[in-house]
Amino acid sequence: MGRLDGKVRLLSAAAQGIGKATAIAFAKEGAKVIATDINKTKLQELEKYPGIQIRVLDVTKRQQIEELAEEIERIDVLCNIAGFVHHGTILDCEERDWNFAMNLNVRSMYLMIKTFLPKMIKQKSGNIINMSSVASSIKGVVNRCVYSTSKAAVIGLTKSVAADFIEQGIRCNCVCPGTVDTPSLQERIKAQPNPDQALKDFLARQRIGRMATAEEVAHLFVYLASEESAYMTGNEVVIDGGWSL
Ligand SMILES: NC(=O)c1ccc[n+]([C@@H]2O[C@H](COP(=O)([O-])OP(=O)(O)OC[C@H]3O[C@@H](n4cnc5c(N)ncnc54)[C@H](O)[C@@H]3O)[C@@H](O)[C@H]2O)c1
Repeated sequence: MGRLDGKVRLLSAAAQGIGKATAIAFAKEGAKVIATDINKTKLQELEKYPGIQIRVLDVTKRQQIEELAEEIERIDVLCNIAGFVHHGTILDCEERDWNFAMNLNVRSMYLMIKTFLPKMIKQKSGNIINMSSVASSIKGVVNRCVYSTSKAAVIGLTKSVAADFIEQGIRCNCVCPGTVDTPSLQERIKAQPNPDQALKDFLARQRIGRMATAEEVAHLFVYLASEESAYMTGNEVVIDGGWSL
């Protein structure tokens, strides 16, 4: 028997990185997983796992989210994982960069929660897990202006939903990783003028001396998605190898 037997888990950004690792970890624990992403080709790699159903979804598109909600009868856990890292200070952040990051990192969660929460309220139970970051209200990080702003907003959104719906049986927490070795992180390292130095800088941030794997963060998602964490709501859960020490 798995830790997530039978329950329906919907994830965004499941085609690669932490979202993919979490979809696989959920399925191994017996969940019925609806893995969504904009990248259909990469999403198809998940089809071989029993318990995972894939679905193309752009989480910035209200209509697509509402169409999906009409197809789904029940949802036990909603994981909002999609996000984008803009590199730079406020002076490097043009208005279009600001709008893109806030739209994908925060507005998408507003749309997803607003659409799926009524189903959870009707069921008298539901569990929402949002992806934040240590780069947020937890820690000031250089060159992460709009990213940190957006991830701090995710913490605020998480606490607000947790406070407003606790009596209706809804839990809402967020996960705040340090540096996680994912495809987009590798791309960001390669895009730096000196990739070797950029890698060293990323590694040095974690006092533990290495990056997290996506699977390590997925284990935390499994815990938060299971009844083992039934007493947790409104929490920002840090998993950062000592970065914020
Ligand atoms: N990697 C890290 O070091 C790290 C650290 C802290 C927090 N995070 C957060 O974790 C989340 C996942 O990051 P990652 O590095 O694992 O993944 P990633 O950046 O490698 O992959 C992101 C996925 O999101 C999908 N996506 C992009 N736009 C989308 C949209 N509009 N609708 C649906 N899907 C969309 C992409 O297709 C891709 O599959 C992000 O929110 C990120 O900010 C990552």
